[in-house]
Amino acid sequence: HRHLLGIAGLNHLEITALLDKAEEAVKVSQQTEKKKAVLKGRTQINLFFEASTRTQSSFELAGKRLGADVMNMAVKNSAVSKGETLLDTALTLNAMHPDILVVRHAAAGAPQLLARKVGCAVINAGDGAHEHPTQALLDALTIRRHKGSIQNLVVAICGDILHSRVARSNIILLNAMGAEVRLIAPSTLLPADVEALGVKVFRDMRKGLDGTDVVMMLRLQLERMSGAFVPSVREYFHFYGLDEDKLQNASEDAIVMHPGPMNRGVEIDSSVADSGRSVIREQVEMGVAVRMAVIETLAENACKFNDKGE
Ligand code: CP
Repeated sequence: HRHLLGIAGLNHLEITALLDKAEEAVKVSQQTEKKKAVLKGRTQINLFFEASTRTQSSFELAGKRLGADVMNMAVKNSAVSKGETLLDTALTLNAMHPDILVVRHAAAGAPQLLARKVGCAVINAGDGAHEHPTQALLDALTIRRHKGSIQNLVVAICGDILHSRVARSNIILLNAMGAEVRLIAPSTLLPADVEALGVKVFRDMRKGLDGTDVVMMLRLQLERMSGAFVPSVREYFHFYGLDEDKLQNASEDAIVMHPGPMNRGVEIDSSVADSGRSVIREQVEMGVAVRMAVIETLAENACKFNDKGE
């Protein structure tokens, strides 16, 4: 592949190869000397049209640890504020010969559009409610490190599935790797195409959590809701917030995940988020490693495409 636009289109072997490569990157990140020179001379541009803490900083660190020159485009201070379009902005940056363009945008399909127009590798860092492929890969790496394998695990994804690109990428990845995927959410927070996703759906959180190996919580994306569709936070936490009591329904050794940013007391109680079962900080650590693996793989692929004159 020239780009990473989504988990859709990656097979079991390709996902496993990326996770294996990320394991090597974990070791690099844990050393005192964290820098490799494999991407020396390459240029990576991070173009984030939506806010980010984890994804942007880990893409920056990942590129730098591989030896690339990394530029973070300050979108708010750019000519975007003067009306320049996404495409014109990308084509302008493309004229400076980057090798990797990392894009986050509120519109589903924005990275796909850019991939057709620019000459470098494009990585989707989250597009609307569509996909967030590196999040699913870092979640998979975290799960694999705790459970050994993803195959046959029971994974519950809980909360605001409707607005979640994280959920969509995880569903595709976990299905490809042979896990049983359960979605736990009220009907108002499930997408219309939920039946086609290859999942089991639960409205009752205690029943959905029964015997699960992995509990993946999602942020309630209140900023994407309006009017009658905004739930009462107190009621939401009562039915769908993960607390110690509801977590007792999961397997004894179940791990608790959250992609961040967390809304404590809304979808997750602090006593669970900060407990020994939470792997939330480890997910962040795996984020740097997975992004190193993706960037390095796409840089290697670019050389192969160029060798073939494509
Ligand atoms: N998980 C995630 O995408 O976090 P950020 O929005 O902080 O990048």
